Amino acid sequence: MEIVRVTESAAIAASRWMGRGDKEGADGAAVDAMRFTLHTVAMDGVVVIGEGEKDEAPMLYNGERIGDGSPPQVDVAVDPIDGTRPTAYGRGGALSVIALAERGTMFDPGPCFYMEKLAVGPDAVGRVSLELSVRENLREIARAKRSSVSELTAVVLDRPRHEPLIDEIRSAGARIRLIPDGDVAGAIATAWSDTGADVLFGIGGTPEGVIAAAAMKGMGGEIQGRLAPRDDAERDRVRAAGLDPDTLLSNDDLVAGDNCFFAATGITDGELLRGLRFHAAGVITESLVVRSSSGTVRFIRAHHRLEKLRQYHLLPAGLEGGS
Ligand code: FBP
Repeated sequence: MEIVRVTESAAIAASRWMGRGDKEGADGAAVDAMRFTLHTVAMDGVVVIGEGEKDEAPMLYNGERIGDGSPPQVDVAVDPIDGTRPTAYGRGGALSVIALAERGTMFDPGPCFYMEKLAVGPDAVGRVSLELSVRENLREIARAKRSSVSELTAVVLDRPRHEPLIDEIRSAGARIRLIPDGDVAGAIATAWSDTGADVLFGIGGTPEGVIAAAAMKGMGGEIQGRLAPRDDAERDRVRAAGLDPDTLLSNDDLVAGDNCFFAATGITDGELLRGLRFHAAGVITESLVVRSSSGTVRFIRAHHRLEKLRQYHLLPAGLEGGS
């Protein structure tokens, strides 16, 4: 439960940058706030997926120790803003997300930036595979849901690289929801009823794939991945890091075991979570916390009194009031 404070603080910091057109500014504020709050969490954490290598990322770099140093020992994956563009340009669907798992259980994607992904909800777990064609997967999902392919909705990041994929989905007869950004939300939407999303296909960020895997464990869905190096040089670096780019990564390969946690807080309004609302006394956040061992999914609507947080030094420096 404590980790939701981490995504709340990052979302509060990021939301002040909504619509300012400054992606770096928004990301920097969210990283600072996330790191500040992470150090107050009772854990001995290592950042497996962070903002990059130490020399490029002064904070939350891969390998950084975080938490107050007390047990449990955990691997941590963070994305202070999944949706820096929507945040900077005032569009919907940006989240702050974090995943925690027992030490040594989280997949380290090394230098690989992108991953091919396939995510489905509980009904279709065990029925799909990245080894199958898009058409075959859609047919399996339709069977599992006792529906027809024409009634399914496939979520796809709106990118030129997905044109062939979109053609395949269309020719199979399924409906498509193109999302401008945010495939963590896109993946977990498949595991939550009422979102209307049945499957996520396509290539997105590797960190987002691992983070979504932690969420899917608790939500009963499934995400599979396959590393998707951008060019031969990246493929060589992936191999040099001891990874096989052709291997199919199951949900368990991405996050092993059954003791992981996921939290997300809405920055801008999205399908699952509303973005921040400021009011005279403070701010309201909406978050989701998922615990894999129990399979509990909690929606948390929190009212934060910024004055009070500041008084007890629970707000990072620079996070000023609403004036
Ligand atoms: P960031 O906001 O962290 O940059 O990620 C947004 C996002 O849409 C992810 O959800 C997705 O996995 C990735 O970008 C896709 O990358 P690209 O924009 O390069 O296609």
